[in-house]
Amino acid sequence: MADGSPWPARWRRWKLRFALLAIALAMVVTGWGHVDLNAQGYRRGDVSGEMVPFAPARPLKPKRDLIRGKDGRFWRRLVNDGLHDKYNPDVGKLREPAQTLSKLPGKRDEIGNNVDWVAALRRGYIMPKDRLKPGDKPETRSTDIIMPRTAAMPMVRFPHGAHSEWLDCSNCHDQPFKKEAGAHRINMEDILAGEFCGRCHGSVAFPATDCLRCHSVERNVGTAN
Ligand code: HEC
Ligand code: HEC
Ligand code: HEC
Repeated sequence: MADGSPWPARWRRWKLRFALLAIALAMVVTGWGHVDLNAQGYRRGDVSGEMVPFAPARPLKPKRDLIRGKDGRFWRRLVNDGLHDKYNPDVGKLREPAQTLSKLPGKRDEIGNNVDWVAALRRGYIMPKDRLKPGDKPETRSTDIIMPRTAAMPMVRFPHGAHSEWLDCSNCHDQPFKKEAGAHRINMEDILAGEFCGRCHGSVAFPATDCLRCHSVERNVGTAN
């Protein structure tokens, strides 16, 4: 205490450290320097209170907009899936498909939502309720219908089995399909316009870009050759 200060030298160094710590704490507590971002990097607008993009809209880029799941598949982030409102701050509370859907079977083809829902159901990953009232017995049918008018593409196999696990007969009969094999002139233009198979495929079931999942029967297989 030769220098006249009431504090020993050791204490003076500690005082400085305490002061810096207190400032840091105050910054955390008061939220100083904090930008109100939601989990996806959108910032709350100053006036409207609406979430506005932190950066201007940019084209989709794999690293930024897709998440690579543990399974190696790439998953679109919810804010970029074109379905969720990316300005809604609560979008960050939903679980990303990379976390949840990546546990389900599927291919790495980035078609549809990457999930093979038929396999997910059959292998017991999901167990949707198949009836509303106990005692109701859902009707199933196992016949496959081969549709041969496919030009140079492999023929189409329509499986009643895979469909009746999800749907009721009345979803398809007698609209859009009569209960009669070969009763319809179906073509891709109509399917892409949302008719026939396109009533569901492309919206609630895998999309038309997955050609070979429908066109699965090679022409020389099962015919006389
Ligand atoms: C959801 C099932 C489904 C998917 C997916 C699908 N098709 Fe088809 N396609 C059909 C059906 C059903 C027919 C009609 C077959 C019949 O009437 O015998 C058809 C017919 C066709 C035909 C002949 C009639 C026409 O429109 O020219 C071609 C060519 C064809 N598909 C190509 C494709 C290609 C290429 C893709 C992928 C881009 C594709 N299809 C995806 C179901 C599908
Ligand atoms: C996802 C749509 C869909 C569902 C669900 C569906 N069907 Fe079909 N069904 C079809 C199509 C497509 C055809 C063939 C139409 C054609 O070839 O033009 C067909 C044909 C048929 C046929 C005539 C060919 C055959 O297999 O003998 C019968 C009978 C039939 N369905 C009964 C049923 C019953 C019973 C159920 C419910 C258990 C059912 N279908 C559910 C789409 C469906
Ligand atoms: C009423 C809705 C509906 C219609 C109409 C429909 N599908 Fe489907 N389809 C589904 C659903 C739901 C699934 C199961 C979910 C998925 O695979 O995406 C499915 C699955 C399939 C599968 C996969 C089967 C498997 O074992 O993996 C094929 C192939 C298929 N559909 C072909 C067709 C063809 C061809 C048509 C038209 C002739 C058609 N679907 C019409 C709803 C429909």
